[in-house]
Amino acid sequence: MEIYWDESLSTGVDTIDKQHKEIIARINALLSMSDEEKEGELDKILRFFGGYVIDHFNTEEAIMIKHKYPQYDEHKGEHMKFLKSYSSLKRLFEKEGATELIITATQNQAVDWLIKHIMNTDQKMADFIRNKI
Ligand SMILES: [Fe+2]
Ligand SMILES: [Fe+2]
Repeated sequence: MEIYWDESLSTGVDTIDKQHKEIIARINALLSMSDEEKEGELDKILRFFGGYVIDHFNTEEAIMIKHKYPQYDEHKGEHMKFLKSYSSLKRLFEKEGATELIITATQNQAVDWLIKHIMNTDQKMADFIRNKI
């Protein structure tokens, strides 16, 4: 299963779109990894969540604050929920390595949560921001 970025995901903010494309590309790499790549890919994606994705959340939050987005708290809450699940996955991975359970949980988390967030929550934000810039 591959996920594609298309114009329907555009937020109208170049920085955010660029970051979303990168996030989708990384998730696709995680979904298409071979058995031998599992350990390395999992390590990579968890580092990516802990670095790039956190920076991405900060970018969005700064934009929402700048434009006084009314649903800021709700949106930030979803980011925090993601980071909480990410921390548990990371701890589990450090303890047990790339077990099937962690692989499935990470893939589900990445796809279900992040993609849904980009498609729904980020789009709502984009609809508001688009009228401001
Ligand atoms: Fe986003
Ligand atoms: Fe977001």
